[in-house]
Parts: sequence; C-alpha cells; structure tokens
Amino acid sequence: MICRSGLGTNDRYNRHVVHLSRVVRFCINDSPVANSPVDDQPSGSDRGHPPRHNRFSAWPPVRGFGRYYELHVRCAGEADPVTGYFLNISHIDRAVETRVLPHYEQVIAQSSEQPNPAADAALGALMRNTVALLQEPLGNSVTEARLDLTPYHNLTIRSREMDHVILRQQYEFAAAHRLHADALSDEENLAVFGKCNNPSGHGHNYRVEVAVRTPIQADGRLLPVERLDALVAREVVEKLDHKHLNLDVPQFAKVIPSVENIAKVIHEMLTEPVAGIGVELTEVSVWETGKTVCTYRGD
Ligand code: NI
Repeated sequence: MICRSGLGTNDRYNRHVVHLSRVVRFCINDSPVANSPVDDQPSGSDRGHPPRHNRFSAWPPVRGFGRYYELHVRCAGEADPVTGYFLNISHIDRAVETRVLPHYEQVIAQSSEQPNPAADAALGALMRNTVALLQEPLGNSVTEARLDLTPYHNLTIRSREMDHVILRQQYEFAAAHRLHADALSDEENLAVFGKCNNPSGHGHNYRVEVAVRTPIQADGRLLPVERLDALVAREVVEKLDHKHLNLDVPQFAKVIPSVENIAKVIHEMLTEPVAGIGVELTEVSVWETGKTVCTYRGD
C-alpha cells in the first residue's frame, strides 16, 4: 500500500526506496594476456581476457602473482512494480567489467612504472572515478562504492561526498578481562555475567576496525594507511595488548570492560590523535569473538 504523507505531494514521501549492493571480484594481472593459452578460446572472451567461467571467485581470474580486488557497489532506487527489480544485477557486473576494470588496469599499469608517491596520488582519484564511471550505465543510482584492497583494509566513497573517502583498517590485540559490577551482589553478577564473572578473568583475541574520513587532496592523495597503523599501534595496541584490562588499563579501573565499553574507550583514545593527522574518526568496531561485534560512532 502506498501511504500519502501529510507533508505534501512530494514524490519522496510516496516512494519505497531500496538499497541494493553487489560485490564484483576481479584480478589485475601483470603477465601479458596474449601469452596465455586460454585466450585462444574464441567464444565469450573480450579484451584479451578469458571467458567468464567463474565470476564467483573473480573475473578476470588471477594469473601468476596478479592482484585481487573486491568492489562493493551500492545503489538506491525503487523496485519496478512489474519485475520486482530495481536494477538487474548483471548490469552492475557489466558496468564494472566494461568501465571500471579497464580504468583500474590502466592506472595500476602506470603506477607500477612510477615511484610509490604516484600510486598514492592515484588512489583518491581512482575512488572518485569509480563512482563517476558507474553512474551513467546504472542510471545515476550509485550511492557508494567500497574497494577492498585487502581482506582487512578498504576504502569507501559516497556519491554525496565525492571529496572524501572513508578508510577502514583492522588491528588485533589479546587481553584478559573480568565482567563484574560493584553495584550488584555476587549472586547477581553471576546471574548477569555467567562465566565472564570468573574472579581471575578470562581472555579474548580482540579484532578492532578503525574508520576515518580522509579528504582527497588536490593531487588525489589520501591519508597513507601506514600513518594510521603507526598511530593505532602507539595509542591503542601497545596500551591494551597482553594486558588485564581491569587491572592494567586506567580507563577500565571503574568502567566494566565489556565489548561495548572497549569500543567506546578505543574511540576516545583515538579521537584527538586521529584529528592530529588531518582526518576524522568516524567509528570504531570491536570483535570480541567471530560472532560478536560492537560499533561506537561517538554519538
Ligand atoms: Ni569476555
């Protein structure tokens, strides 16, 4: 049912916008494609790439020491009342393969021939170009694109803010903690926290993801990720790794080191230092186990 809003006849209030995400996996290879026997196959190949036998793993597939990337494309719009489709996902695949992939191949070939600063300079521009290249074939519906450079490090650009990139990087530390509230009786603590109330504590291998909003400089550069790595190592990992959080870390002297509070404390530890390197902390996520993650955005 379509509900009319009392705010007026603006279409915005009558629409049912959906957000559709698609991941496209691809490899960029150094070796000349013309030398590969698979390129002799006449059907289904294009621009010297092999046929699309396995888009699940990656297309083009990796060859030798090639580079692997994942591009997450997010689009917003309304589903067609007849087909139920907002976008045919094969159109997203094709738009990436025909427009984004050749651009990446060209930029990466150029940057590998030049010193490292040129590669840094290319990255911000590459993210901006990724969205720009996809808008026309996808009807200007692209709201963001996320490029996974590694399984632990990615860049996101949003179409409403094309002069900034959200950079995410992951870290780990091991620590012990005990969940115990002084305001509760021993019986109540045991009832609430269970095994986590063990008087001697217990340990976790924590994973932390730090997200910062970095401007794209005039020359296309972003914050080099190694600067964030150095800062997080100094401000967070060295202070928490192999520590008993309740006993060794002043921030938890009177604060229960739940995963919620750990995310908040790390956010507080990083806010000012991150501003000091010219970027803005947007969120901190902490995984206590593979199944539990808590995100704090400072609001
Ligand atoms: Ni625990």
